[in-house]
Amino acid sequence: MEIKTVGVVGLGTMGAGIAQVCLQAGVDTIGRDLTDELGERGRATIDRYLSRAVEKGRLEPEDKDDALGRFALTTELADLAHCDLVIEAVLEELPLKRELFGELDGILGADAILATNTSALSVTEIATATNRPERVVGMHFFNPAPVLALVEIVRTAFTETAVFEAAYAFGERLGKQPIACSDTPGFVVNRILIPLLNDCVRVIDEARVSPEDVDRAMRFGTNWPIGPCALLDLIGIDVHVHASEALYDALREPRMAPPPRLVRMAQAGHLGRKSGKGFFEYPRT
Ligand SMILES: NC(=O)c1ccc[n+]([C@@H]2O[C@H](COP(=O)([O-])OP(=O)(O)OC[C@H]3O[C@@H](n4cnc5c(N)ncnc54)[C@H](O)[C@@H]3O)[C@@H](O)[C@H]2O)c1
Repeated sequence: MEIKTVGVVGLGTMGAGIAQVCLQAGVDTIGRDLTDELGERGRATIDRYLSRAVEKGRLEPEDKDDALGRFALTTELADLAHCDLVIEAVLEELPLKRELFGELDGILGADAILATNTSALSVTEIATATNRPERVVGMHFFNPAPVLALVEIVRTAFTETAVFEAAYAFGERLGKQPIACSDTPGFVVNRILIPLLNDCVRVIDEARVSPEDVDRAMRFGTNWPIGPCALLDLIGIDVHVHASEALYDALREPRMAPPPRLVRMAQAGHLGRKSGKGFFEYPRT
């Protein structure tokens, strides 16, 4: 099953990163967002990252030009008709993803594979919006996609083995470290990380320890490269609260529920790095 052309739907944080990874692996990629402006914003993000890599001597200027030359933009879903694989990275909303998968099902060739980058929704529920659930997988990249090597390749009860293997092999072709897993809430990393980060936040209040000291505890006591509060600021407090709620809904385990402190931070707009303030302050440069 040869994958020559990839479609990426949604060119926000994850979609732009996934498209960049495909482009750098030499894959013709077509990105779809809702408006030309949103598409161009995605292209500008990729351009910025590649330019930085050139400045740092990690990428040859001609490789940057080649990568960007392989990228096409569209607002029309129908322009993805010739794609062998479409990776969806739109907002984390089940009705939106189901609608999109239903539309793509009617547009793509019969052999095409559909992948979702969902973090916490059921791949099965997304797959059943199509008439080809056997050709649907999860390809869960991590943020930032060009930097983090892991991609969780998620199979449902419907997924054909050949489809799963093609998605896994494509992950390897992208230079990633794929792992095989099943469609269970949070897959592997979020199933472990979300309750763990929630515990770290609860300790702040229970043990009356500062966020700085929780971070120092985990960095110097367990050799984490980054403290949990700094990591939450990087992930985005709103993104983490949303994922915690989804996991809590799915599993009903109290540790999955977002700690009230995080909910309040999200309500106050203290979302971490992206808002300039979370557990810590991030002066705008
Ligand atoms: N941000 C993360 O850390 C992270 C990590 C792994 C997975 N994910 C998952 O990736 C997905 C995308 O998250 P994100 O953080 O990139 O979101 P984002 O808000 O940055 O980007 C979403 C993009 O999708 C576009 N969009 C919305 N509806 C669309 C449609 N019908 N067609 C085309 N484009 C559409 C929006 O305009 C936006 O550009 C979510 O499912 C999320 O759970 C996110």
